[in-house]
Amino acid sequence: MKIQEIYNLAINKGIEADFRGEEGIEELLKRKKGKYEKLSGKEKEEFDIESLENPYLDSRIYHVAEDKEIKKVLVGIDIEPAELLLAKEIGGIDLVIAHHPLGKGLAHLADVMDLQCDVLNQDGVPINVAEGLMKERIEEVARGVNAVNHQRTVDAAKLLGLNLINSHTPCDNLAARFIKEKVEKENPERIEDLMNLLKEIPEYKEAMKIGAGPKIFVGSEENHCGKITITEFTGGTEPTPKIYEKMAQAGIGTILGMHMREESKKEAETANINVVIAGHMSSDSLGVNLFLDELEKKGIEIVPCSGLIRIRRS
Ligand SMILES: [Fe+2]
Ligand SMILES: [Fe+2]
Repeated sequence: MKIQEIYNLAINKGIEADFRGEEGIEELLKRKKGKYEKLSGKEKEEFDIESLENPYLDSRIYHVAEDKEIKKVLVGIDIEPAELLLAKEIGGIDLVIAHHPLGKGLAHLADVMDLQCDVLNQDGVPINVAEGLMKERIEEVARGVNAVNHQRTVDAAKLLGLNLINSHTPCDNLAARFIKEKVEKENPERIEDLMNLLKEIPEYKEAMKIGAGPKIFVGSEENHCGKITITEFTGGTEPTPKIYEKMAQAGIGTILGMHMREESKKEAETANINVVIAGHMSSDSLGVNLFLDELEKKGIEIVPCSGLIRIRRS
């Protein structure tokens, strides 16, 4: 496979697993095209043309040093210049794949957060409320990533002559879909049952060995789960803390997420919503692994690094 094929495979897998459905994504891209066509010549020049085809702007091809057949990839949750030096040291690495966004992808992280509004709406939060409350948070995330040294790792890839891409939301979608299907199938009654369900998943089993396994942030083992939501597994980063009260009103009993800030934890507690945090690196690994299995099927060798717990399912 070539770099573009690997990248396209990630995007397509992400669309397949997306809670909004393939039609939802088509609709979204169609709207963007419609808006683009109405722009003036100068505005069109400034427009990110990739957004017409790619619904996940936090996932990009950053540098193509050599467009060759890819046989061996180094994959990590966070790729920084250190991991790129590792790639050089290991040798024979044709492509480096990051999970968390870099460069242009990081600058566009907030762009994928609209997904959360749709998923919250599917869970019963009125769309106007979800959009209204999330708007401020999306802007906050956009401003937050504005200050970072976006190109640091990309610059290192250029200097070292390494191919570099990332897949963020597509992989998080794969993890979210996997967890959702498992939860729906096993329908855990109490938090304890939900914890046991998670602990059967190999990525979480591995994380438990280092003390980073699933944790109950709010609630207790005896609590009933009620309606479980997976809204926080995908969609860029954490939502606004103001959403929890509305989630409770919409009938949500338990949030199953990857990670949660203290401020949000307090708000969920006030709203009497249970919070089970599956774990960050382990949950990211789950999504990345589901994608990497597809690459392995095509004969690509995987070298995991930087927090990636590699588990093979096929
Ligand atoms: Fe992730
Ligand atoms: Fe993450």
